[in-house]
Amino acid sequence: MSETTLFKSKLGLIAATVGSAVGLGTVWRFPAETQANGGAAFLLVYTLCIFILGVPIMLSEFALGRSGRCDAVRAFSRFDKRSPWVGTGMLAVLASYMILIFYMVVGGWTVEYLVTSVTGDLYQALPAAAQDSHVMDTMFIAKMRQYVETPWAPLIATVAVISMTIGVLLGGVQKGIERLSNVMMPLLFVLLVAFCCVTLSLPGAGEGVRFFLNPDFSKIDAGVVINALGQALFSLSLGMGILITYAAYYPSDTRLVKTSVTVSGLTLMIAVLMGFLIFPAVTSFGLADHKFGGTTLVFVTLPEVFMNLPGTRVWSALFFLLLFMGALTSIVSIAEVSVAFVADRFKLSRTKAVIYTILPMFVLSSICSLSFSTLSHITIFGDNIFGFLDNVTNNYMLPLVALFGCLYVGWVAPKNLLRDELTNGGKLAYNLFDRVVHVIVKWVAPLAILIILLSNIF
Ligand code: PHE
Repeated sequence: MSETTLFKSKLGLIAATVGSAVGLGTVWRFPAETQANGGAAFLLVYTLCIFILGVPIMLSEFALGRSGRCDAVRAFSRFDKRSPWVGTGMLAVLASYMILIFYMVVGGWTVEYLVTSVTGDLYQALPAAAQDSHVMDTMFIAKMRQYVETPWAPLIATVAVISMTIGVLLGGVQKGIERLSNVMMPLLFVLLVAFCCVTLSLPGAGEGVRFFLNPDFSKIDAGVVINALGQALFSLSLGMGILITYAAYYPSDTRLVKTSVTVSGLTLMIAVLMGFLIFPAVTSFGLADHKFGGTTLVFVTLPEVFMNLPGTRVWSALFFLLLFMGALTSIVSIAEVSVAFVADRFKLSRTKAVIYTILPMFVLSSICSLSFSTLSHITIFGDNIFGFLDNVTNNYMLPLVALFGCLYVGWVAPKNLLRDELTNGGKLAYNLFDRVVHVIVKWVAPLAILIILLSNIF
């Protein structure tokens, strides 16, 4: 692999990796999960999961990718082409491609909400702020439904997101992915902090902060732990082949342990800031009894919050800009998994690989987008196309890839692979931390992921 395909700077590499991690899962699913699982208790377990399991699993993916300087499939076939473990790489590429299909659609929704916040359409013909929140609820839900259930508008937004993704990917690792992340991640962070300053100064904000930070340990049960672990894996982009692919672009002197702790810490920090944005705002405006599940948090509850703030459209536009940036940097990272695979497998130039990989999205994501309108009659195992893709990838494919990935690095790959990568080929000392990581990758992480998988199946 030539030098130009490596990330150019340390900061850029961190921004790109955090950019992948901070997506809709971190920004939107995290507060929803926190609310559903008892607030602070969930945050505590999630934090433990991130550092005890997330960091070691991330390191195993980094080690696989950087040692081979290859895509996710070759990472598993490098030592033995005919080994059944190659299937893990294939599964990672397949899962990431399937996620890409429906993520483009959700990305489109964020674009639509950004545009209609700017134009003011989102808030037109809605009752004034003082009115009953349940009336507003119904109206925002109706808006959302009306939007996704018409064929054209979401389709156009989806096509816009696909085109932007192609644009970024054609730029390559440095001029596309790295440059995008260098602009968007700091901006996302600044916006988030600005939002927190506003929400934390609202009257009644304290109650939301208490819910988020004051743990009620009696709320911790097996369900909470399993959900927190699932959320930790998802929010760190584990089990998708992304970190294997990105690590192949890490220079050989990058310290993997430091990188993974930094990336995990920043992701956690952004999730926590998101909590500070949401919980004070909803308690302040009396919306705490709303359930955030599904799409309601960002497309229903938050617009209600913005209705109550002076400068509704400005805050609303800034928030959906933030969400869009989170989505785009994640989309680009997951698309890169397939691009790297196709380029390697078929020996194609980057440009051709991007085109062959992403062009089909115009058809596939459009079909997915239409699964709420024209194609809503098509169901697979009881879900529409969108729901099926979401369900099968999240609940089964991702945990499987993460599980097999750990087993592969821990038990099958050459013994020194992890050690060499953690120590940069012996330049750094192999310390206690590294040894603990090894044990976790070998024993603890596979067991924990197996439990998630079994709980999803039964
Ligand atoms: N960590 C990402 C998120 O929180 C996971 C993801 C990455 C999902 C890329 C889709 C695409 O959203």
